[in-house]
Amino acid sequence: MTIYRGTFLDTPDNPFTGGGLRVDADAGLLVRDGVIVARGPFGDVRRAHPAEGIVDLSGGLVLPGFVDTHVHFPQIRAVGGLGLPLLEWLDRYALPEEAKMADTGYAAGVAAEFVRGLAAAGTTSALVFGAHYADAVDVLFSAASGVGLRITSGLVVSDRLLREDLLTTPERAYTESHALAKRWHGVGRNRYAVTPRFSLSCTDDLLATCRTVLDEIPGSLFTSHVNENEAEIAAVAELFGGSDYVSTYEKHGLVDRRSVLAHNVHPTDVELKMLAEGGAAVAHCPTSNAALGSGLFPLSRHLQYGVRVALGSDVGAGTGFSLLKEGLQAYFCQQLIGDQGCALSAAHLLYLATAAGADALGLPEVGDLSVGKRFDAQLLRPADGSPLAVGVEHADDAEEALARIFTLGTPADVHAVWIDGELLHN
Ligand code: GUN
Ligand code: ZN
Repeated sequence: MTIYRGTFLDTPDNPFTGGGLRVDADAGLLVRDGVIVARGPFGDVRRAHPAEGIVDLSGGLVLPGFVDTHVHFPQIRAVGGLGLPLLEWLDRYALPEEAKMADTGYAAGVAAEFVRGLAAAGTTSALVFGAHYADAVDVLFSAASGVGLRITSGLVVSDRLLREDLLTTPERAYTESHALAKRWHGVGRNRYAVTPRFSLSCTDDLLATCRTVLDEIPGSLFTSHVNENEAEIAAVAELFGGSDYVSTYEKHGLVDRRSVLAHNVHPTDVELKMLAEGGAAVAHCPTSNAALGSGLFPLSRHLQYGVRVALGSDVGAGTGFSLLKEGLQAYFCQQLIGDQGCALSAAHLLYLATAAGADALGLPEVGDLSVGKRFDAQLLRPADGSPLAVGVEHADDAEEALARIFTLGTPADVHAVWIDGELLHN
C-alpha cells in the first residue's frame, strides 16, 4: 500500500445541486491495489499505517484525473483548421485526415500521439470517437492499453453523404463492430462505444443496426453528434422528414443512459425533455463550438431540464486536449450569454471536467478522490516563478487557486498522472 501526501481538491458533491469544492490540505490517501482505502489528515493516516511507503506530493495541488467525454482520435493532426463552419470544416480539414486512417501504419503513429496528448493533459478517462477503419480502431485500443488509459471507443460508421472512402454498409458495420468489441470490450480498461458519425451521414437502416449492436454488447456506450450547427440541423430535418435531431436517434432507442451526444448547442425544449427522460448525457465542447462558430451552449436550459452535461475537448475542432482550457472556455461562453448564462465557479468547472464526466461515461469508480474510488489523479505543479505559480501562491484560498489553474494552466503544469495508482510514464 502507498500513502499519497498532499493537498487534494475534488467535487464529490455536485456543485450544481448544492455541493461544492472539497479541499483537504496536508491529507493522506491510502491506496491499495489502485483503490483509495483510507483518507484523512496525513498525520492520522500515517499513525494508523506506520509501515507503508509515502509519496509526497506537497508543493502542488492534486486533482482527480480529467474525464474527456468527446474527443476524435484521427483528428489530432487537424487541430487548428480555423475559419470554417462545421460542414465546410469537415470537408476541408477533418475528413481528408480521417481518410488517411486507411493506412494502419499511419493510424498507429497518430494513435501514439493521441494517447500521449490525452495523458499529458491530465486526462485519465475518455470517450473517444474512433476511425472509420477497423484496423485503425484496433491500433488505438492497443496504444491506449500501452499507456493504461481508461478508454471507451469504437468504429465510426456512416453510409451516406460522406466521402466515398469513409462509407460502410449496415452489414459490414455490424460484423466489424462485433469483431472489435470481442477483441477489446472489457479487456483491461477498454470498453466499446457504438459510434455512428451523425444522423446526417447515417440511414435509418444503419442506426437500427447500431441499436442492435449496442444491445448485443452489454456495458457498451452509444455516442454521436447532435444539434451542433444550424445548416447541419436543417439538413437532418430535410433528410428525416422534418424530424428534430434528437428524435433521429431516439426512434431507434439510442437515447438512454448509455448515450453521450456531443454539442447540443441548438436544442428545442422537446429535445431537452427527451434527453432528460431518456437519461442521456451531453458532451459540451466549448472551444470547438467557438472555433467553428457553432454557437453558445445553453447550459442553464440543460440544467433546468435535468440533462446530464460534462466536458469534451472535441479535438480536432477543439483547440487542444486540456480540459482546463475547455473549462475556461465554458466559463467564457456562459459569461457571453449574459442574463441567461449560468454563472460558473471554479468548483463547477472542476466538476464538469471530472465527476460529471465519470457519471456521463458510467464510470462510478472514478471522478473524485473519495474512499472506495480508484486513484486516478493528477498533480498540478507549475514551474517556479511562472504566472500560474505566482497566482496560486498568492491566492486567498483553494477555490481561488483552482480558478487560477483553470485560467492559466496548461498541460505543461501537469507534473504527474496516475491511473489505478500507477504512475504514467509519458
Ligand atoms: N459532426 C460530425 N462529425 C464531426 C466531427 O468530426 N467534429 C465535429 N465537431 N462535429 C462533427
Ligand atoms: Zn465531435
